Amino acid sequence: MAAAHSIKKAAVIGAGQMGLGIAYVTALHARIPVTLHDPSSSVLSASLKRFDGWLDKDVSKGRLSKEDAEAAKDRVKGVKGDGTEGGEALKDDTDLVIEAIPEIPDLKAGLFKRLAGILPAPAILGSNTSSISLTRLARAAETGAVGASERVVGIHFFNPVPVMKLVEIIPALQTSAETIERAKAFGVACKKEVVTSKDSPGFIANAILMPMINEATMVLEKGTATPEHIDTTFRLGMGHPMGPLRLADLIGLDTCLSIQRVLHNETGDSKYRPSGLLVRMVDAGWVGEKVGKGFYEYPKKA
Ligand code: CAA
Repeated sequence: MAAAHSIKKAAVIGAGQMGLGIAYVTALHARIPVTLHDPSSSVLSASLKRFDGWLDKDVSKGRLSKEDAEAAKDRVKGVKGDGTEGGEALKDDTDLVIEAIPEIPDLKAGLFKRLAGILPAPAILGSNTSSISLTRLARAAETGAVGASERVVGIHFFNPVPVMKLVEIIPALQTSAETIERAKAFGVACKKEVVTSKDSPGFIANAILMPMINEATMVLEKGTATPEHIDTTFRLGMGHPMGPLRLADLIGLDTCLSIQRVLHNETGDSKYRPSGLLVRMVDAGWVGEKVGKGFYEYPKKA
C-alpha cells in the first residue's frame, strides 16, 4: 500500500495530449490545484477547452456532479511558458512537477536542470518520458541544484490518460526511497494502478509494445496484409482493444519512432532497428491521428 502522497500543488509542463490528461486526473481525482504550462497560447487554450469538454461529458452522462466538475475546473490554471522563465516561473510552493514535453533528450535534460534550480526539496521532479533514461535526467537535475537528482522519478501515464488505468513509476539510479513512495501514492490518488520498472530501455510497457508496433509496420511494408487486416487480427484474434497500426496512430508515429530509436541505440541490438516504412511515414509528416493522417485518415481536430 502506497503512503499518503502529501502533494498540495502540482504543475504539468506541456499541454499536448499527455500533459492535458495528466492535469485532468490530477485536478479531478487527486483533487490538487494544478498549473498547466505551455509556450503556445493556442495549444493551451485548445487544451483547456478539451479539459472542460471532458468534465461536461461526464456530468451529462451522470458520472460526475456539477459541483465536482466546477471544482475540478477551478483547480486548473493555464500558464504560458515552460514554467522556468522570468515572471511565468513556477512558484516554489509547487510540490510536484511532471513534464510532458517532446521526447527530445537534450530538451528534457535542459528543463530538469532549470526546474531543479527553481523547485527546492522536497518537490518531486517527475517526467512522463516514455523511453528516455531517468538516470540521465536526474544527473541533469543535479547540475541545477545539489541533491536534486534524488527527487527525479519517471511517472509514466498512458494515452488516453483519463481512460487508461495504469501508471508506470521508474526510479533513476539516484532516486530516493521517499520520492518513489510519494510518486506511487500520487499515482494511486489519480485512480491508477501503479507498476514499478527499473530504468531500463523502454521500461516495461515500451520494451514490449514498441517492437510489436515496429513489427506490424514491417509486415505492412512486406505487403503481407492491409492495415485493416493486420489490426483486425489483433482485435479479434487476440482481444486487443485496437490493432497495432491504429494504436501507433493514436500514440503518434513520431513518438513510436523516437522510442524505437532509443531501444535500438541503447541496446545496440539490431532486432530493434526501426522499419523503413515507419521512418518514411514520419519523414512525410504522416504521424497519426493528431495531424489527420497516419496508417489511417482522421477528421481534423477543431
Ligand atoms: N481522450 C479522452 N477520452 C477518450 C479518448 C481520448 N483520446 N478516446 C476515447 N475516449 C473515451 C471515450 O470518450 C469513451 O468514453 P465514454 O465511455 O464516456 O463514452 C471511452 O473512452 C471509450 O471510447 P470509445 O467507445 O470511443 O472507443 P473504445 O471503446 O474503442 O475505447 C480506447 C477507446 C479507450 C482508446 C480503446 O480503444 C483502447 O483502450 N485502446 C488502446 C489504448 C492503448 O493501448 N493506450 C496505450 C498506448 S501506449 C502509451 O500511451 C504509452 C507510451 O509510452 C507510448
